[in-house]
Amino acid sequence: MKTTDVRRDMPLLDKVIYLDAASTTPTPKPVIESMNNYFYNYNANTGRGAYRMAIRATQELELARKKIAKFVNSDPQEIIFTKNATESINIVVRGIKWNKGDKIIVSNMEHHSNLVPWLNLQDQGVEIKIIKADENGVIDPGEVEKTLDDHTRLVTITHINNSIGSVQPVNEISKILEDQNVFYLVDAAQSAGHINIDLKKLKADFVAFPGHKGLLGPVGTGFLYYARDSYAELNPLNLGGSTVENVTQKNFELTESPACFEAGTQNIAGYIGLGSATNYVGRIGMSKIERHSKKMTKIMYQEIQDIENAHVYGSPENIYGIVSFNIDNINPHDLAKILDEIKFICVRSGFHCAMPSLRHMGAYQLGGTVRASIHYYNTREEIEILCETLQDVSKLIET
Ligand SMILES: Cc1ncc(COP(=O)(O)O)c(C=O)c1O
Repeated sequence: MKTTDVRRDMPLLDKVIYLDAASTTPTPKPVIESMNNYFYNYNANTGRGAYRMAIRATQELELARKKIAKFVNSDPQEIIFTKNATESINIVVRGIKWNKGDKIIVSNMEHHSNLVPWLNLQDQGVEIKIIKADENGVIDPGEVEKTLDDHTRLVTITHINNSIGSVQPVNEISKILEDQNVFYLVDAAQSAGHINIDLKKLKADFVAFPGHKGLLGPVGTGFLYYARDSYAELNPLNLGGSTVENVTQKNFELTESPACFEAGTQNIAGYIGLGSATNYVGRIGMSKIERHSKKMTKIMYQEIQDIENAHVYGSPENIYGIVSFNIDNINPHDLAKILDEIKFICVRSGFHCAMPSLRHMGAYQLGGTVRASIHYYNTREEIEILCETLQDVSKLIET
């Protein structure tokens, strides 16, 4: 599939220049159709009914799980449906039994969703050790190695940082942790659907995925990969219908994963849509997406950097899909509003739910940055319009 084919499936791209893939992405028509098919033809609850329509709904939901598992090279039983990446992370944070004195290693480049839930464990006497990135927002795996000790129970890191787009060495960290008694959680919120993720190779205990970003699934979807061979024991976040095998008036017996983590009626249509979205992304081809995004990121980085009073964050060699910048003497929100008002350009501005990372990059006191983020559907022309408009605005500010 070419970029033009994908754009045809996303009519809203004719109305705006959408450069906010890091927040969420437009849902392609075939994904919407797969959800409509559920609503029009077999809108029943899953796992409960003996009638044919309910059985079909259950089968389609499990088929979606299979498609997703195949896409990330895992087993379907390792995929727990969630409403977003944040919920996936919280299932792990709140599901492990922590002891006073346990240590968790987190980086200073995390999204708040992969920081705040961990910080909250400090109330239980858990130590949160923050390791610092270099001046380009990249974590040195050696820092992880140096920080490990006998108290460390978990290391977590984002695959691609969401505020400036720096790519983190998740595979190298995985190697360091291979022979350690330490759990490993990777936040794939900005990499899923953007770069190929092979979970058998990554060898993490947990990987948190959103469905609604790079994977082109609908909002309200995500999933948690929970490795079958992980020795981490997780208590479910929510209990209730679907999570139990046997119940008496006094007790209950939990069922197996993933069902024990999926309490109550699920976002059935959404997850069916997500299954169809992974097929859609697979039809485009991950290597094509990667080539396109690498090229577009480089062009965007270079052209914005060439604007005299612009400052771009991170190293062009090691950022992917996201370009974060400031223009002197204009607040990021004001700049984002101008881009929208004069050219219908949608970019994100401010702190991107990652305040510590922007403090580290020196952008906090500027009110954050403007962030342009792309996917396969973005064209060279769109990038040109962004850069030309920025050039014009920057000249106006100078005078
Ligand atoms: C790196 C990172 N982690 C976690 C999240 C949270 O994702 P969600 O909105 O799916 O909960 C985001 C969202 O932007 C993110 O960029």
